[in-house]
Amino acid sequence: IADVHNDIDRELVSKEQIDEKIREVAAQASDDYRGKDPLLIAVLKGAVNTIAAFSQAMSIPVQLDFMSLSSYGSGTVSSGTVTIRQDLSTDVRGRHVLIVEDIIDSGRTLAWLVEELKRRGAASVEIFALLEKPSRHEVHVDVKYHGYEIPDEFVVGFGLDYDERYRNLDSIAVLKPAVYQGENA
Ligand code: PRP
Ligand code: MN
Ligand code: MG
Repeated sequence: IADVHNDIDRELVSKEQIDEKIREVAAQASDDYRGKDPLLIAVLKGAVNTIAAFSQAMSIPVQLDFMSLSSYGSGTVSSGTVTIRQDLSTDVRGRHVLIVEDIIDSGRTLAWLVEELKRRGAASVEIFALLEKPSRHEVHVDVKYHGYEIPDEFVVGFGLDYDERYRNLDSIAVLKPAVYQGENA
């Protein structure tokens, strides 16, 4: 593997499209949260690129925090079990929380997180998801700010990984089948 871009079969969402959508949603969220002192929570690791770009595109001061959750192991299929790898450092009680997520697949990660934040006493909990795979949704999640809908293909880039790699690609893409060689489906 010589170069990230050499392993790509085709691009699904360009960096320009990502940037355009993030700026559009950030403008809307800035209006909606003006005066509310919002707390943006990114689900690590995948949402790190999205929260960086999104928060910089917002025009109001925001607070950031991070929670590391995992529903996938090293494969391409969700295990269905959410594990906290690292918790927040902020008390969310009484706060207006906006969860920033890279992708909603089965919906299990966010369904779990929304309930957990409400249980901790957040005043409101909303979601911005850059990508959604509607055909894969297993549980309902209320998304306030939508990004792009994509087909049921395993994608990497802009924070999304395959076996912890390719998060550093600057667009959303499908990998060449050869990259997955050896994985037991
Ligand atoms: C991925 C992705 C979402 C979640 C979506 O994270 O970043 O957080 O899975 O899947 P779901 O809707 O089926 O729950 P992953 O568990 O791979 O951890 P990562 O963000 O560290 O890559
Ligand atoms: Mn994730
Ligand atoms: Mg992952």
